[in-house]
Amino acid sequence: MTRHLHTRTVRRRAAGAVGAVVAGLLCAAGPAAPGAVAAPGARSVAPRLDDGLARTPPMGFNNWNSTGCRAEFDQDMVKGIADLFVEKGLRDAGYEYVNLDDCWALPERDADGKLVPDPARFPDGIAAVADYVHAKGLKLGIYTSAGTKTCSSVGFPGALGHEYSDARQFADWGVDYLKYDNCNNQGVDAKQRYTTMRDALADATRATGRPIVYSICEWGQNKPWEWAADVGHLWRTTGDISDNWSSMLSILKQNLPLAPYAGPGHWNDPDMLEVGNGGMTDTEYRSHFSMWSVMAAPLLIGSDLRTASAATLGILGNEEVVAVDQDPLGRQGTVLSAEGGRWVVAKEMADGSRAVALFNESGSAQRISTSARAVGLPAASGYALRDLWQHRTSHTAGTIAATVPAHGTVLVRVSADARWAQYPPAVELGLDGTPLFEAGRSVTLTSTLTDLGRTAARDVSVTLDGPAGWRARALSPTGADAVPPGRSLRTTWRVTAPAGTESGSYGLTLRAVHRSAAGARVETVVPLAASVVVAPPPGVSSLGDLPWMTAANGWGPVERNTSNGESAAGDGGPLTIGGTVYADGLGVHAESSVEFYTGGACETVTADVGVDDEKSTNGTVTFEVWADGTEAASTGVLDTTMPAQPLSADVTGAEVIRLTVTDAGDGIDSDHADWANATLTC
Ligand code: GLA
Repeated sequence: MTRHLHTRTVRRRAAGAVGAVVAGLLCAAGPAAPGAVAAPGARSVAPRLDDGLARTPPMGFNNWNSTGCRAEFDQDMVKGIADLFVEKGLRDAGYEYVNLDDCWALPERDADGKLVPDPARFPDGIAAVADYVHAKGLKLGIYTSAGTKTCSSVGFPGALGHEYSDARQFADWGVDYLKYDNCNNQGVDAKQRYTTMRDALADATRATGRPIVYSICEWGQNKPWEWAADVGHLWRTTGDISDNWSSMLSILKQNLPLAPYAGPGHWNDPDMLEVGNGGMTDTEYRSHFSMWSVMAAPLLIGSDLRTASAATLGILGNEEVVAVDQDPLGRQGTVLSAEGGRWVVAKEMADGSRAVALFNESGSAQRISTSARAVGLPAASGYALRDLWQHRTSHTAGTIAATVPAHGTVLVRVSADARWAQYPPAVELGLDGTPLFEAGRSVTLTSTLTDLGRTAARDVSVTLDGPAGWRARALSPTGADAVPPGRSLRTTWRVTAPAGTESGSYGLTLRAVHRSAAGARVETVVPLAASVVVAPPPGVSSLGDLPWMTAANGWGPVERNTSNGESAAGDGGPLTIGGTVYADGLGVHAESSVEFYTGGACETVTADVGVDDEKSTNGTVTFEVWADGTEAASTGVLDTTMPAQPLSADVTGAEVIRLTVTDAGDGIDSDHADWANATLTC
C-alpha cells in the first residue's frame, strides 16, 4: 500500500505568543493492511499527525450547547468565559481553548471573498477577541463547515472551495483551533474535504507560525476513526449530544467501542459537555464527566459559566477526574463488563495505575464489582484505592466494588502501592433487593457491610434513614467491634412507608461508620431510591392507562395512547405503525425504559411494536420486555419500513417489569417507537 505522507511545519509557543520552530514533521506510521480493523484491545496503528499538538485531549469551552445561535453569543460572552477560566481556577485545572461555534460570521463573504465577523456579535472583530483570550494565557477556537454553508438554517459561509484563504484568515486572526462541520457538503467525499482543510491549515501554519488544532466534525458518518488519525487531532464519533440522560447514554455507548483508535494527537470526540445545562441531575452530570474522562474525550465545557452553580463548577473543576482524562499515556478506557446496566470501564494510566469507572446505567441502585487483576494490575498484597469524587484513599485486598446509585458512577484510581497498609480498609455497603413499598405495609430489607481490605474494620455501625414519617427498625445488630477482612455485618430492617403515602420515588439513606486499625474514621453513605407502588388490578389492563414507577425517554416524555411527538407532553399523534392506527399503548422515543410494578401477581405482557409512521426514515430500534432484571422477550432491529410485530412476554412472578426500547446501536435519531395495544394480564 502506498501511504500518503505530508509535511507540516509547526511552531510550539507559549499561549498567545509565537515561539521558535521546533518540529517539522509528519505521519509516524506503522504497517496497516488496507481496510484493517483493530481487534478489540489492540491499538490502532494507522498513520498519524505528528505535529506535537493535542498530545492530551483538548480542554476548553464552546458556546453551542448553551446558546446555539442566540444573540447572547457575542464577544462579551466569550471574553467573560475567558475571565472565568482564570478566576475560577479552570485554566489552572487545564481548560485552555475558548471556542466559538456557528453563527459568528455574516451570511455573505466580502468583495474579496473574505469571511466577515457579525458586527452585532463581534464589533471588535475576531483578532481582538483572540488577543484578549491570549492575554489570559488561553487560546481561541473557531468554527466553519466543510460545505458551502454552515449548519445553521441562516446559512453562514462554509469553507468548501475556500479552504486555503479561510485557513489563512483564521491563522492571521490568531485562531488556535478549528472545528470543521459537515453540513451542505454537496456530496463531496469526506476524506477529500477534511484532508484539503488539513493541508490548508498546515499551509497557514507555515505562513504565520500559528499551530491550529483541527477538530473534524462529520458526526462519525464516514468512520473517521479508520482514516482521520493523519487528518485531524480529534473527530466526532456521533451525532449531536443534547442535554438529557438518554442522549448522553446513547453517545457514550457509541463511543466506548472505539477505544483502540484513540491516542495522543488523535482522539475520539463524543461531543461537548452538557454538565450544568439543567437537563440532567448532578449525579448524571458526574457520570457524564466521569465517563468522558475515562474515554479520554475532549473536555469542552458546554454551559454558560457566567451562571454556573457551585455544583457545576465543582464537577468541571474536579482535578482528579481531569487528570484521568489528561493522562499522558493517552489511552481511552475499555469496557470490561456491562451486564444488566452495570458497566466496568478501565483506563490504563501512565503511572501503571488504572482509573476504573463503575457506572450504573439502570434506574435503581446496583452493586458493581470488579478486581485489581481484572483491570490489569499486577498481583500484590494490597492496593491503594483512591475515590476521585470523595477524594479519599482506602486499601483493598483486590476487590473493587460499590453500590452505585441509579445513573451514578463511582470513579476510582487503583494502584499496586506498597504503602497500602497506611490506608483504612475499603468497605462495601449495600442493601439486598429493591426497596418497593405499598403504603402502610412493612417490608424487610437487609443491609450488608463487607470489609474489602486486609485489616479489620473497627467500631462499625450502620444506620438506615427514610423521609419524615417512615419507620426503619433494626431486627438484628447494627454494629460490631470489628468486621474482619472478607467478612460482613448483615443487618435486617423492617421498613414501613406511612399509610396514605402517594406512589412515587422516595430517598432512603444507608450510612456506615468504621475506623481503621490506626483509628481513622471513615463514613460511607449510599443514597437509595425507595418506590411506593400500587398493585395492578387483576385481569387484563392496558399499559397505556396503568401508573408506571419510572419512565425514561430519549426525547420528550413517554406518552399514553399517542405517539411520542418529540418534545412537549401531548404533542404526538395517534399510534400508527405500517398504516395501522391503534387506540391504546405507549408512545416512546429511544433510549426508553418504562417500569411497572407487578408485585408477583401478573403473567403476561403483549403488544404490537414498531417505529411510528410519524417518521419515514432513520428510525431503527429494538424492543425488550424485562422481568426483574431478566429479559423475557425482545425483537430484532425494527425500522420505519416494517409493519408492527407482535411481542408476548411471560412475566410470571416478577415484582417489576420493564419495557425498554434501544436505539439499535446507531444513535437515537428519529427513533419514535410504539408499544401499541400493550396489555398486562394479572
Ligand atoms: C452541527 C454540529 C454541532 C454544532 C452545529 C452548529 O450540528 O454537529 O456541534 O456545531 O452544527 O450549527
